[in-house]
Amino acid sequence: MKQKLIAGNWKMNGSLIANAALVHGVQQGLASALGAKRVQVVVCVPAVYLSQVQQLVQGSGIDLGSQDVSAHEQGAFTGEVSAAMLKDFAVRYAIVGHSERRQCHGETDEQVALKAQHALSAGITPIVCVGETLAEREAGKTEDVVKRQLAAVIHTNGHCISEIVVAYEPVWAIGTGQTASPTQAQAVHAVLRSQLKAATEHSDRVRILYGGSMNAANAAELLSQPDIDGGLIGGAALKVADFLTIISAAAR
Ligand code: PGA
Repeated sequence: MKQKLIAGNWKMNGSLIANAALVHGVQQGLASALGAKRVQVVVCVPAVYLSQVQQLVQGSGIDLGSQDVSAHEQGAFTGEVSAAMLKDFAVRYAIVGHSERRQCHGETDEQVALKAQHALSAGITPIVCVGETLAEREAGKTEDVVKRQLAAVIHTNGHCISEIVVAYEPVWAIGTGQTASPTQAQAVHAVLRSQLKAATEHSDRVRILYGGSMNAANAAELLSQPDIDGGLIGGAALKVADFLTIISAAAR
């Protein structure tokens, strides 16, 4: 069985003081949350705090992630952070194509695919986010949307597609407290799994995370679904006790 992955997406939250308290709290509770099991735990932090959190997580078993990566290698791209720069800070995972970036920054499927490509070529695992809006779900387009989003990444990264992580994040569930039911989530995960299966013989290696109002109360049931291999956690990753409860649900 694949090791589950629990990734916190801090979004634009934190401060030097708050980050230290959060990471220390998680570190202190990690061993008892895990018991004898192993779960890969990642925190995806704002770019300016990568250096701080790199020091904080050293030797703790928590991996460092970024929330984005540039679709370009280097040069005149004001404000962007390249994959090579992330690598300098021991970043192991990079979220790409989060719906907030697709919506607020107009990121296209093709740009997301390029971001994944740059991450992979720097040895960073992209966490590729896909997910439908409420209007798309209500129009019966969920499957088409997530398949289109993933297809772009497969098209650009075919030969190393088994190295990615996918996160299914229904846009209507993000930050709303409205979670997809385990059945709804599992149905989409199964679609993504079969799309990956058609793309690579190593599809069983790919972890498909669920994200969207996953919390301490609903994590165990979501994580027990056959195709849910972990979670991408926003709000609940900012609270030590909640994040630890989710980690321990993944360790069951
Ligand atoms: P949420 O965010 O857990 O606060 O809904 C998840 C995400 O956007 O990654």
